[in-house]
Amino acid sequence: MCGIIGYTGSKKSLPILIEGLRTLEYRGYDSAGVTVAQDGCLVTVKSRGRLTDLEAKLSSSGELYGSAGIGHTRWATHGEPSDKNSHPHSTEHLTLVHNGIIENYAEIEEMLRGAGYDFVSETDTERGAKLVDMFFAKSNDPIDAISRAIKVIRGSYAFGIIFKGFEDTVYAIRKDSPLIVAHDGEGGFIASDIPAILKYTSSYYRLDEGIIAKVSTEKLEFFAPDGSAAEQKLETIDWDIEQAQKGGFPHFMIKEINEEPEALRKTLEPRIRNGLPHFGIEAIDGELLSQFESIHIVACGTAMHAGLIGKAIIEKLARIPVNVEIASEFRYRDPILRKRDLVILISQSGETADTLAALRHAKAQGVYTLAIVNVIGSSVAREADSVLYTWAGPEIAVASTKAYSVQCAMLYLLAVRIALAAGAIDEPRARQICDTMLSDIPTAVTEALKLDRQIYDVATKLVAAEHLFYIGRDVDFALSTEASLKLKEISYIHSEAYAAGELKHGTISLVTDGTPVIALTTVGKVCEKTVSGIREVKSRGAYVVCVCAQGLVGKYDIPCDDMIVVPEIDELLATFPAVTVLQLLAYHVSALKGLDVDKPRNLAKSVTVE
Ligand code: AGP
Repeated sequence: MCGIIGYTGSKKSLPILIEGLRTLEYRGYDSAGVTVAQDGCLVTVKSRGRLTDLEAKLSSSGELYGSAGIGHTRWATHGEPSDKNSHPHSTEHLTLVHNGIIENYAEIEEMLRGAGYDFVSETDTERGAKLVDMFFAKSNDPIDAISRAIKVIRGSYAFGIIFKGFEDTVYAIRKDSPLIVAHDGEGGFIASDIPAILKYTSSYYRLDEGIIAKVSTEKLEFFAPDGSAAEQKLETIDWDIEQAQKGGFPHFMIKEINEEPEALRKTLEPRIRNGLPHFGIEAIDGELLSQFESIHIVACGTAMHAGLIGKAIIEKLARIPVNVEIASEFRYRDPILRKRDLVILISQSGETADTLAALRHAKAQGVYTLAIVNVIGSSVAREADSVLYTWAGPEIAVASTKAYSVQCAMLYLLAVRIALAAGAIDEPRARQICDTMLSDIPTAVTEALKLDRQIYDVATKLVAAEHLFYIGRDVDFALSTEASLKLKEISYIHSEAYAAGELKHGTISLVTDGTPVIALTTVGKVCEKTVSGIREVKSRGAYVVCVCAQGLVGKYDIPCDDMIVVPEIDELLATFPAVTVLQLLAYHVSALKGLDVDKPRNLAKSVTVE
């Protein structure tokens, strides 16, 4: 996600751009920039870093007094955070900001190089800008140039553009990425989200895909790609800015849980080509993966729990041993690492000190390191031999939710790729898994989100608990570890995840009347055994919530007080809707307790110290 703002009107544009970008920093904050049109020129100032870094740069630049301009806060996807990769991107005839991913940027670059263009940045956005430029140079018509360019571009985009010769007008168009257009009677606005315009107006148009907006001081006009006039629907909202930044949700955490279907789609789609995993990294797409004899997954907290899911799926499909390690333990225990081992580091922030230290230890041992990271250009990403970026967008809540889900999705894809390289599965099976992942995971997670009301009702019965257990076997145990962490870190209820078969070896002594036990049953082959564990705790007075796969409902007589049925999906992929259910449960318990869900006590979003 990135933040886009544009303005043209009776006021100076720069203050409006900067203030708008500040309200959009939750969408992206690794670099920022503005272009202001003045005296027939398009003057651009941009910088790696936060908005404050851009403001510092602006304070030492010439005055930007023009009344039209565009601005951008970046969440890097192509090209790591740097001054040159920041937006806006300028060409001979225009300046452009972009939110989204242009998938065929390499093909576009080749076409443009053939037309005599060269490039200064690593970004897909610059390729998009110069494509529009090429068409504009021929027609000197903004609508025509945009229409021709979007016929070539594949991927997602929200563009804000100002053209030379049309400096008092801002043009906009979108596909997949959001973009709104508004007018307050004195000027017109474009923005990637509502917070940026709320100070000026609460009425706006949510631009339809493929419709070109022409924003001038006097009015808004909308055009279809063929240049014909188009109508758009005016909407009004009564949110304040904070509500708008959370998309109307009460907390970032619940907003981010609701972003999971889209985040999963964005992480999976670009990495499945001709039905098979394709990572765009020669080392991973080539023969390298077939050389590894064992894998170590090293991470902290939620990322480590994603590693447990990775272990289960890689061992299941590839039959290669996987060892999951807590990063803070890994490098101090002198781990046994061999040349033909692979070390996978997982980190949302890419700045976790323990994970970074583990990476450096593995590299010092001469072992190949692969990072799965959400923040582009972060330390773990830069120092690993290869990096696979998850495209979950910024995760603001301290409790990690959508990042965990996309980490698991990446590990599933990697497991298929490794299993293919090892000859453990054939291409038809690989295609079948990839196809099912792409078609069913976002859908099943969307269905899980619809259980919110039932989950809320169950949460009301857990609010008073002091101790609580999650139990499961096989992948359900791995899921329990994440569910337990999610609950305790935001509700402050002491919770433990236990292998269901292990309870009777001691811990069941803690189960008394009313002790809540959340039992996970999504894995068919061990469900009956887990049901035995449920009977054990039930007979000691536990309050049992069973989180059960739809296909297993009714197969066994499960003695539980409440049952949450995980939406139908291939058992191999049940992790995804199941974890959404468990994240929602933790969220509602914390919110019902009136706690600071997004910023739990004692916790930081990224633990950059040991
Ligand atoms: C997860 O909800 C926690 N906030 C924490 O466990 C986190 O997952 C851990 O600190 C690792 O962070 P990273 O993914 O940024 O490396």
